[in-house]
Amino acid sequence: MPKLVIAGGAGFIGSQCAEYFAKKKFNVILIDNFSRGNLLHQYLPRSRFNTDFLLNTYPNIKLFEFDLRDYEKVYPVISIADGVIFAAGQTAVTTSLQFPREDLENNLLTTFNVLECIRNSRNEIPFIYCSTNKVYGDNTNQVPIIEHDDAYSLTEPHIKGFSEDLSIDNCVHSPYGVSKSAADLYVQDYGKIYGLKTGVFRMSCIYGPYQYGIADQGWVTHFVASALSGKPITIYGNGKQVRDLLHVSDLVELFDAYLKKCKTVGSDVFNIGGGPKNAISILQLVKKLRELCNPEIIVKYDNWRLGDQKIYVSDIRKVQTRLTWTPSISIDQGLKTTIQWISQNLNLFSKSS
Ligand SMILES: NC(=O)c1ccc[n+]([C@@H]2O[C@H](COP(=O)([O-])OP(=O)(O)OC[C@H]3O[C@@H](n4cnc5c(N)ncnc54)[C@H](O)[C@@H]3O)[C@@H](O)[C@H]2O)c1
Repeated sequence: MPKLVIAGGAGFIGSQCAEYFAKKKFNVILIDNFSRGNLLHQYLPRSRFNTDFLLNTYPNIKLFEFDLRDYEKVYPVISIADGVIFAAGQTAVTTSLQFPREDLENNLLTTFNVLECIRNSRNEIPFIYCSTNKVYGDNTNQVPIIEHDDAYSLTEPHIKGFSEDLSIDNCVHSPYGVSKSAADLYVQDYGKIYGLKTGVFRMSCIYGPYQYGIADQGWVTHFVASALSGKPITIYGNGKQVRDLLHVSDLVELFDAYLKKCKTVGSDVFNIGGGPKNAISILQLVKKLRELCNPEIIVKYDNWRLGDQKIYVSDIRKVQTRLTWTPSISIDQGLKTTIQWISQNLNLFSKSS
């Protein structure tokens, strides 16, 4: 059975990858230090919920609990892998502004360590990197957009979303955007210089079950949990900000496609998200949640956040063509499964808002 290592395997994306590949009979090895709550400087109850579930359900999943900054511990685990998915790190822009060193170490040094383990062992191990649209910083705000009553929209030449050609230079990023950009570039370079098989996936907004959204990160599940528990939702800015949403099941299918095709596709960079068909503004999402789970949602407004992208929609044409993949879960379908899972597990969110 092939061995797949998932760095950040206790987290939202990592745990969903783990379940998918365990079902496909991989030997799945999770590395995590359970630091999401500490890194976000928030109390997050039951951080072991995802791994408890995985370890109790799938005998072919193992957990190594240590810090990815510790190269000596990482090397023996990575060096025997047949594939690596990197889904670890500090994930919030807001927290990175307050704690930039923690952000740098947990996003850049961790990625670098895993790359070095592959280079120093067997450079044919495929490496999937969870990058972010934040590498484009506020360059996304330098393009013409149209303001509607409840949303911004893009115009030509970006009507199909932002492609991989958008510049990552000369813009405001936030420390999170910089640490992720630096790691993204390291991953690309290890592909080009050392011949690693690296897939860089610049993700827009990923959502779904097993995500513990808070006000600072994971806004869709944070909104759903707030709506279900009758807590107010704070919108930073005017709420017309648009994101393309991708359900985590579609993301995992995409990673599978890359692992299968990486020998022919080679190392590359892809923008991924739900694309223009799955783009929605904050105000529009709140409207849907009023219809789907709580007509009485209370909304508060606060100032715009530094460097916030007014609109980010991924141009997914490259990934669709190169990896023969397309999102299959609509926002309505994805929200229903997410609402269902959160309503069954609302206690997990109780102190996190
Ligand atoms: N969720 C999204 O919408 C989204 C969008 C763009 C990019 N990403 C990227 O995808 C990755 C996964 O995101 P997520 O939403 O699953 O986050 P998450 O917080 O749920 O999972 C990250 C995991 O990494 C672990 N971790 C952090 N630092 C570590 C370290 N030094 N050693 C070992 N483990 C460590 C945490 O304990 C956590 O379990 C991140 O790199 C994030 O930047 C996520």
